[in-house]
Amino acid sequence: MDGVILMKVVLKLSGKNINPNKTTFLKPLVDLWQKGAQLVLIHGGGPQINDFMERMGKKPSFVQGLRVTDQEVMDITEMVLSGLLNKTLVGMLVQHGIAACGISGRDAGLFLAKKHTIEHEGQFIDIGWVGDIIQVNPQLIETLWGNRILPVVSPISGDSDGKSLNVNADWAASQLAIALRAEKLLLFTDVPGVLLDPLNPDSLIRDLSASDIPLLFQKGIVAGGMIPKLQMIQTVLQGGVEEVFIAGGASLELLDQLLEGKSIPGTRVTR
Ligand SMILES: Nc1ncnc2c1ncn2[C@@H]1O[C@H](COP(=O)(O)OP(=O)(O)OP(=O)(O)O)[C@@H](O)[C@H]1O
Ligand SMILES: [Mg+2]
Repeated sequence: MDGVILMKVVLKLSGKNINPNKTTFLKPLVDLWQKGAQLVLIHGGGPQINDFMERMGKKPSFVQGLRVTDQEVMDITEMVLSGLLNKTLVGMLVQHGIAACGISGRDAGLFLAKKHTIEHEGQFIDIGWVGDIIQVNPQLIETLWGNRILPVVSPISGDSDGKSLNVNADWAASQLAIALRAEKLLLFTDVPGVLLDPLNPDSLIRDLSASDIPLLFQKGIVAGGMIPKLQMIQTVLQGGVEEVFIAGGASLELLDQLLEGKSIPGTRVTR
């Protein structure tokens, strides 16, 4: 990656992208930061939370791609996301010479959330302590950037009573990108992008217009964890973000080319 990059980027890593035994995925992030970009990393942690839930005798379950979160699951999720996984990622970045600082949506009131409600065919479905972000206070991120410290964000948020809520990491990344007026929102995941057939990696949709997203939902093409990713994109693009890119971890290696405007494998979503 040559030259200076003056760009605000919110980059979300899936839990599946974070492997402490294989740190090559960090190199493009380190390069981007060292070129001067204003970068925020935000992370999910699906497999790690599942693993700890199973160790504690609990079975993960999801509704519309959102984790059903009772109080015990909330505690596990907060411990894993804001604790173990966040600090693992920070530790790896520090080892690569980056002054990274791990925070959660609760720190300095970064994300204020309220309980998410799901209604299906007139019925209210209770999925527990899942949150929607209603306000972002980016002051802490800007303070860290001002001191060239890289923020690494866990999406766990606080509500107006100070209680923790489990916010989907794609939603948190989306709200953060809007609040920071980021140029790009990059969502890295465990599939090559949005697929016409989720079982066929060759069915990648490379260019997607936000206005086509409702059709993908209608046709039942979007399921599981892809639901929350796509639900927020229209809002993100209307909120001023130029482009959302959804791609597999392998495309991280081509991050420099992506930021130079070149086409790399993944789904580019624009207005
Ligand atoms: N049309 C589709 N195209 C691609 N993936 C899809 C589609 N429909 C459903 N999916 C599922 O969405 C999953 C990605 O979401 P998931 O929540 O599992 O991961 P993530 O959000 O990247 O990670 P984390 O939850 O750890 O933040 C894929 O693994 C795939 O199974
Ligand atoms: Mg997910």
